[in-house]
Formats: sequence, C-alpha cells, structure tokens
Amino acid sequence: MTLSTTKDTNFQTTVEQLEAHRTARTKALVFVSPSNPTGAVYPADEIAAIGEWAAAHGIWVITDEIYRQLVYGDATFSSLPEVAPAAAERTIITDGVAKTYAMTGWRVGWAVAPLAIAKGMGKLQSQITSNVCNVAQAAALAALTGPQDAVVDMRTAFDRRRRYAVDALSAIDGIAVVEPEGAFYVFPSFEGVLGRDIAGRRVDTTLELTEVLLEEAKVAVVPGEAFGSPGYVRLSYALGDDDLAEGIARIAELLTR
Ligand SMILES: Cc1ncc(COP(=O)(O)O)c(C=O)c1O
Repeated sequence: MTLSTTKDTNFQTTVEQLEAHRTARTKALVFVSPSNPTGAVYPADEIAAIGEWAAAHGIWVITDEIYRQLVYGDATFSSLPEVAPAAAERTIITDGVAKTYAMTGWRVGWAVAPLAIAKGMGKLQSQITSNVCNVAQAAALAALTGPQDAVVDMRTAFDRRRRYAVDALSAIDGIAVVEPEGAFYVFPSFEGVLGRDIAGRRVDTTLELTEVLLEEAKVAVVPGEAFGSPGYVRLSYALGDDDLAEGIARIAELLTR
C-alpha cells in the first residue's frame, strides 16, 4: 500500500482512506512526505494519526524521508516515529544523500530500523550487492558531516524555482496546479488540455501528451499514469532557472500553437 496525496480537500480523511484499503493481508504502509510526485508535505497531526492507525493494526511503516530537508514556505517536516511513538517499534526510516546533496547517481542511502530488521536487511543486501563503493561512502560522509550551508542555498534556489514553476504553469490555459510544499516536483492536472489536437495529433491521455511534449517541444516530463494518476503530469524543477523557464515556455507555446 502506498500513500500519496494531491491535497484534495474533498478527500475523506487520510485514516479513513487507509482503513478502507486495509485487508487481513495488509503488512506494511509505504509513507513518503515530502512526496514524489506531488510535492505534498503532510502536517504533523495527520502523520501522527497515520502512525497511530498503523500501530493499532500491527502494520509496519516504511517511511521514506529522502526529501526531509526540502520543505518550503510554512510547511514543516515531521518524522512519523517522532510524532507517533506507538508506531516506532514497527517503523523503518529510509533516507539518502541523493536529494539533499544533489548526489543522485552516487547510490548511497541508509535505513534506520529495529535491530532484527536491520540485521535481516544486512544479510539480504550482502547477498544482492557487494557494498557501496568506498569513494561514494567517503563522499557521503563528507556531505553529512561537512558545512551545511550548501543545503540552505539549494533549498533557497529550489523554492525560487518552485514559485516560478507554479506561477508560469498556472498561467497556461488548461493546466491546474496544486502548490507543492516540498521535494522538487510540481504535479499539475493537464485534464483541461486533453481531447485537443496538439501539433497535428489528437491527445486524449497524459501518456500521449508527454510523448508529444518530448517529440515536439523536446521537454521531458513524467505522465501521471506512471504514478497511477492519469490526467496529471510530473515536472521536476531540479534544474537551472533558465532551463526551467525555457521548458515551461516551450510547453506553453506547444499547447497554444
Ligand atoms: C521518494 C524517493 N525515495 C527515494 C529515491 C531514491 O533516490 P536514490 O536512489 O537516488 O538514492 C527517490 C528518487 O527519485 C525518491 O523520489
């Protein structure tokens, strides 16, 4: 079971949704806040309720905290086992250097888990991969223990790009944006542009739309279908300001051509 939200206020409360999907076979919940693809950040009281629900039903929680440093505006990050201590004994935290330190590709991450689970993970891992290479481990250690001002600089840059992307996308007819509060993605609805002819092709789904965007505008985005949310498109703003502006301008140009 994976939980992700687009912050739709018409949703039933999160715990009611979870309960509706729970069966006798439910073993674990994968919880991601800040979220990829939506950029949603869950408030502490909602996370506490989710954790308490999991604890009450003996459900394990795998909480992916890889975007915890990337929250903007009034949003704050909360760690599930901290706000729901009852869930801690069945919680596994995962994290890594890829996002905070722009170290995608270095392949260094870690988990914080109850000892028996950690030992089991170690056994499994040692049979699947040999190890993380020493150079990458040394680089990750330097990132984690060195000065953290680069993290603040990156967060400031991401926040600027986030606000730009929200404004520029909102100005395009047919695109509806929910403001992301974390990570580095925007996940707007493109439903308003479906059913149109774009560059001579009829586009009925976001899967088709993303193909046209790639081929005609040379802009790479991920269709919502990849996340079980057709009608939406994930755009990343983890790129330079000029490239971001150029990419969104090309989308606007193609859709209004
Ligand atoms: C929520 C989430 N967790 C984990 C990862 C994995 O990052 P990496 O494999 O680069 O360490 C990603 C990457 O996109 C992600 O979005």
